[in-house]
Amino acid sequence: MNVKKWLKIFLLLLFLFNLFFMLLYGKKTFDVENRTISNHQYDYHFALISEELDNEYWKVIKHGAVDAAKKHNVYLEYLGPKQADNYEQLKFMDKAITTKVDGLIVQGIAHPYFYQLAHKAFERGIPVVTVDTDIADSERNLFVGSDNYLAGVQAGNAVIKNTKGNQYIGIVTGRLDALNQEQRIKGFMDAVSEEKRIKVAGIEVSSITKSGAMQAAYELLKKFPYLTGFYGTSAQDGTGIAQVVNQFQIKKKIYVIGIDGLPQTMHLLETGSIDATVIQYPYEMGYQSVEAMIQLKKGNKVEPFKHTRTRVMYREDMQRLLKKGSIK
Ligand code: BGC
Repeated sequence: MNVKKWLKIFLLLLFLFNLFFMLLYGKKTFDVENRTISNHQYDYHFALISEELDNEYWKVIKHGAVDAAKKHNVYLEYLGPKQADNYEQLKFMDKAITTKVDGLIVQGIAHPYFYQLAHKAFERGIPVVTVDTDIADSERNLFVGSDNYLAGVQAGNAVIKNTKGNQYIGIVTGRLDALNQEQRIKGFMDAVSEEKRIKVAGIEVSSITKSGAMQAAYELLKKFPYLTGFYGTSAQDGTGIAQVVNQFQIKKKIYVIGIDGLPQTMHLLETGSIDATVIQYPYEMGYQSVEAMIQLKKGNKVEPFKHTRTRVMYREDMQRLLKKGSIK
């Protein structure tokens, strides 16, 4: 055989060798995006899309989801806009569907684009679990989170129970375009409408930040100086309201009811700056949404609603729980 022929055979072998490794590692590179991180092979890749990435409340949901993900060998990707923004959040949802995650856990958004994306996920066989806020008439598979209407009713009933005489309440709400906030206001309004002495004076928006809640509480007090109470409908509203009420050094007692049990809220509950808070269980929401997704992946039947608890908490409850060491 002449040299030329040997060279041809050698080049052919080299080509086949390269092709083999290209196919092998090319496939692996694709897998890295989905399920292989630092050589660990995961069974599934789920995405959890929050309302706001660094929001304290969402970090607790993430914590629960991460713990369940570890248990089930799931690679959990946590995504969301830097600041709450429906459109940005929906873009994350679209991207996760395009990158073919195995399951999508997302806050429900009352927007036509959400319905379209839930449909797109359905068509591609990607199960969708809504967490924290539901869009029940979309093609999502199930919801894990509070009954937000009930949370509003509980807040309203607490105001009825804990106040006497005429009451003028200012509502500070996270966002007007978030369905859970809307439901919490509706529940509250329905509950207090039974009681003629309680009136809602006005509503302002906090953009789910503490500084926004302070601004909103300030605006309400300026517009309605006769306010006797506040109801904050998202996790940081109670703390913002309490700060303004304390700063104003108002002589009369202003009743403050918030939502959630973030550490700052619990602290203000203990010191008496917040009178009551409707506790949600975000850790459970995160944990149970991953568990539910696993059931869906296994093809098991799941109920369309998995409501986590809500309950009103007072200073006394907190002190009792602290004594028992069981506050979570
Ligand atoms: C709500 C979430 C919201 C959060 C904002 C919670 O009470 O359930 O939807 O993102 O407050 O801090």
